[in-house]
Amino acid sequence: MKNRKKRYVIAITGASGIAFGIDLLSKLALADCEIYCVLTAAAKDVMGRELDGAQTVFQAMDALRLSGFWKIPPLPLSKKEISRISTFEDGDFDAPIASGSFLFDAMAVSPCSMKTLGKIANSIADTLAVRAAEVALKERRRLVIVPRETPLALTSMRNMCAVSEAGAVVLPPSPGFYSRPACVGDIIEFVTARTLSAMGAEQSILKEWGYESL
Ligand SMILES: Cc1cc2nc3c(=O)[nH]c(=O)nc-3n(C[C@H](O)[C@H](O)[C@H](O)COP(=O)(O)O)c2cc1C
Repeated sequence: MKNRKKRYVIAITGASGIAFGIDLLSKLALADCEIYCVLTAAAKDVMGRELDGAQTVFQAMDALRLSGFWKIPPLPLSKKEISRISTFEDGDFDAPIASGSFLFDAMAVSPCSMKTLGKIANSIADTLAVRAAEVALKERRRLVIVPRETPLALTSMRNMCAVSEAGAVVLPPSPGFYSRPACVGDIIEFVTARTLSAMGAEQSILKEWGYESL
């Protein structure tokens, strides 16, 4: 299809650091694109614990803004920006992103639990999140996995090797400190910026190293 908007898939799973997925969603929605978002059941549980009882990504965005993680919190999304985000249940295999015939440009799983990582590595596509990731791999589309666990079991490291060999980018949420983060929000945004770049999406959070005109 000519001139269609960019389409991005965001899966948020039940690892700690739900803020990484929510901030990614918020920053993606600033550009004119379509966003397809799926939360696992465990993600809703962890989100409630980490973001003031939030049970939807929209509640989580508000909770994140008001979290005190930023010195100057990001502005709330406008109605137009919010309308760019469609959400799907993790058991909804009728969702467009469950099929390779639906052309999306890139997907991120952020944060990615070790369980979902293992399922993606082994094509156990019994949830929409894992099925969409399988679609991304089989269709050779960009898939960015933001795994969150520490320390790592050898099994998880092997699963990271497997998804990397299959074409995914494994992007641990490890902040760089050369950008001089001054608050937790800066650290979250560092990870968001690197995730957006790995997805092939525009980002204006971080300057390119050695390039000052951004
Ligand atoms: C508060 C909390 C934090 C968790 N943090 C992590 C984590 O950082 N990494 C991880 O792999 N699992 C973590 N878990 C466990 C996962 O939620 C659990 O394995 C779950 O089955 C993952 O399901 P999902 O991949 O379908 O979201 C956490 C669980 C809770 C309740």
